[in-house]
Amino acid sequence: VTDTIELELEPQKLIAGGEALARHADGRAVMVSGALPGERVRARVVVEKRDYLRAQTIAVLQAAPERRIPPCPALARGCGGCDWQHIEPAAQLPFKVTIVTEALRRTARIEDVAVRMGASVPDTAYRTTLRLAVDPQGMPGFRAAGSQRSVPIEACLVAHPALNELLDDLRLPGAREVLLRVGARTGERLMRWWPDTLPVPGNIPAGVRTGPHGHVEERVAGVSLRVGADSFFQSSPEAAELLIDAVRRAAGGPDEWGPEPVLDAFGGVGLFSATLVPTDRECLVVESNASACEDARLNLAGRIARVVERTLERWTPKRAGLVIANPARAGLGKPAAAVLAATRAPVLVLVSCDPVAFARDARLLAEQGYQLEGCEVLDLFPQTHHMEVVSRFVRKGQENL
Ligand SMILES: C[S@@+](CC[C@H](N)C(=O)[O-])C[C@H]1O[C@@H](n2cnc3c(N)ncnc32)[C@H](O)[C@@H]1O
Repeated sequence: VTDTIELELEPQKLIAGGEALARHADGRAVMVSGALPGERVRARVVVEKRDYLRAQTIAVLQAAPERRIPPCPALARGCGGCDWQHIEPAAQLPFKVTIVTEALRRTARIEDVAVRMGASVPDTAYRTTLRLAVDPQGMPGFRAAGSQRSVPIEACLVAHPALNELLDDLRLPGAREVLLRVGARTGERLMRWWPDTLPVPGNIPAGVRTGPHGHVEERVAGVSLRVGADSFFQSSPEAAELLIDAVRRAAGGPDEWGPEPVLDAFGGVGLFSATLVPTDRECLVVESNASACEDARLNLAGRIARVVERTLERWTPKRAGLVIANPARAGLGKPAAAVLAATRAPVLVLVSCDPVAFARDARLLAEQGYQLEGCEVLDLFPQTHHMEVVSRFVRKGQENL
């Protein structure tokens, strides 16, 4: 029975999933949560396989200088939401940079490209969307680490104050899950629960929009954006602005692009097209989610823009002057990388939220003739191991095509 096995471990480094990597005395790799490189910890084994183990830190025998006491009381009750609270905020982004550097080296065999440290949002009260589980008593909570159990939450360390206000006293008997979203700069509020058929409970504050067709308006980089309940949105308007700045840096000026339209692939509600593409440029958003496409059409009204509701893999490539691609966690993969390369855009900016998927895509794009010139890591999810990588690729030998 593995749950009674305890090990003393000395982790060497942090890895992509946020755990620290250590070696068992028998040579197997141990992924240990709640630990840091250079520490000595006692950990309980939670998974044992033939070639690796997973363990949870239960005592720190020798602490790293980056360690601190986790600030959120929900963590001690088992909340699996923020797994890097044991790391000093100032050290979190440098660790993320190291993880990206390592992923590029191991997965893409790229060692000669600088991984720059970008910007971070404030480390608390930043998130403007929360998706929560609801327990049989109707109490919203986060899933416990590595399990389906829901840990009831009255307040969340990283949630925007307006979300915590919505969360306070919220009871949704009969619901399985709930999404709460606020427009931080407009004060608009939205609640959407599953199943849809559940009637609106009497205790929902006045003015809160509800249901799958609800939306909030948000302001980002001076532009008003409509964001529906079923549409993706970045972790906050501040996060979106940092990302826009990084994409702008990576894209360079229009003089580096071709004359063709800008392709905003996996474009969501049209965030990048609406905020960083010059208004005299045509843009094309390709996005598979119907709610996001509906928002994007409204958000890009008055611009030279077209929104195509389709998966990128099924879109027939057209020439593009610039590509911005921001895929979901799994990354582009081979078919989408081939579609992007077929646009023959001189510059391609990739926005990735997973370091290993980023490295895999960097390799796929290299095979398609796109060379990685540089990348920047942003911390839009402090207290967690999540990150964003914004990278710039240029088409090799484009002058011959
Ligand atoms: C990380 S979000 C980025 C959205 C937008 N760029 C933004 O910053 O708000 C990824 C988007 O890709 C969409 N998506 C996922 N798989 C897709 C696919 N195969 N083809 C096109 N869009 C897809 C999702 O619906 C989501 O809106």
